[in-house]
Amino acid sequence: MANFETTYLGLNLKNPLVAASSGLTSSVDKIVELENAGIGAVVLKSVFEEQINHEVTGMISKNMQNNSYPEAEDYIKGYTRDNTIRKHIELIEEAKKAVKIPVIASINCISATEWTTFAKEFQNAGADAIELNIFYLPTDRNEKSGVVEQLYIDVLKKVKLEVSIPVSVKFGVHHSNIVGMAEKLKGNGAAGIVMFNRFYEPDINLDTLELAASEVFSSPADIRRTLRWVGLVSSMVPKIDIAASTGIHDGNAVIKQILAGAQVTQLCSTLYMNGTGVVTQMMTDIYEFMKKWNFKKIEDFRGRLSYKNIPDPMLYERSQFMKYFSNKK
Ligand SMILES: Cc1cc2nc3c(=O)[nH]c(=O)nc-3n(C[C@H](O)[C@H](O)[C@H](O)COP(=O)(O)O)c2cc1C
Repeated sequence: MANFETTYLGLNLKNPLVAASSGLTSSVDKIVELENAGIGAVVLKSVFEEQINHEVTGMISKNMQNNSYPEAEDYIKGYTRDNTIRKHIELIEEAKKAVKIPVIASINCISATEWTTFAKEFQNAGADAIELNIFYLPTDRNEKSGVVEQLYIDVLKKVKLEVSIPVSVKFGVHHSNIVGMAEKLKGNGAAGIVMFNRFYEPDINLDTLELAASEVFSSPADIRRTLRWVGLVSSMVPKIDIAASTGIHDGNAVIKQILAGAQVTQLCSTLYMNGTGVVTQMMTDIYEFMKKWNFKKIEDFRGRLSYKNIPDPMLYERSQFMKYFSNKK
């Protein structure tokens, strides 16, 4: 009998399949459905720092048009914030009552400001851990990359001051030194990292000559940019839990990420596209793989093909297509 158990951020998971933060984890019903489908843990839909600010601005300008007096501003700010947070706190509390799997709260943020104090409320509501989804888009040509990286560290440090539950950081692939970034996050208290987030990307509509949103879902080929960094970081930054994310659509993708050194894998697009039934198929694929190679538990193959464990680690560093083209007739 295969044992699929794993740990992630110090939590015990029955398997390495985690539902990533998205609309699929925004209600208790959906979370229960995910648990019934066999998922190992859920990351709740993010509370957006931006969303809170937007609501505040919207309400204030509406009130200003109504000639309300300026003192109302503080009240509205306080009310809107509390309302948004209260809803999220209720979601954490109810999800914790409804399911046995770990429930990870998620905050989408770009600054180490006042909002960081909310993190404590999520811990008090019962969240097993907190995932910080940090995305800062630098457009100032004079801004140094070190300053941008420091922003991520500052957010983490501020949140760590508020909570005692584990904190992980989810970031994007566009950093100048990903191994260094992972090490700094670890050094500043991150229990884990999620590599990588995937964002709305712009496209251009040639029919209307307008900027448009591109496809929101990933494709299975997207696993490759994550795989390299999971293989490298798992070898070079000891004792940090890696959640591989982006492009994980089937059991084979999960197996590959674990072979590269991931602690767990996060699923989003495949759940949207194929429904929660895909979890059973993935578990069957993992079972068949373990049976074929006579692996009894996940630890038997975790990191087996990471950077430090393969005979030719340079394969992880290869970035040019030279050999491919030199072999072509
Ligand atoms: C519709 C949708 C909503 C999402 N919402 C969030 C969110 O609230 N917070 C977050 O950290 N990531 C969010 N994501 C990103 C996913 O959690 C995930 O990191 C990304 O989609 C890559 O994984 P995938 O290739 O399995 O889709 C969202 C993705 C989609 C498609």
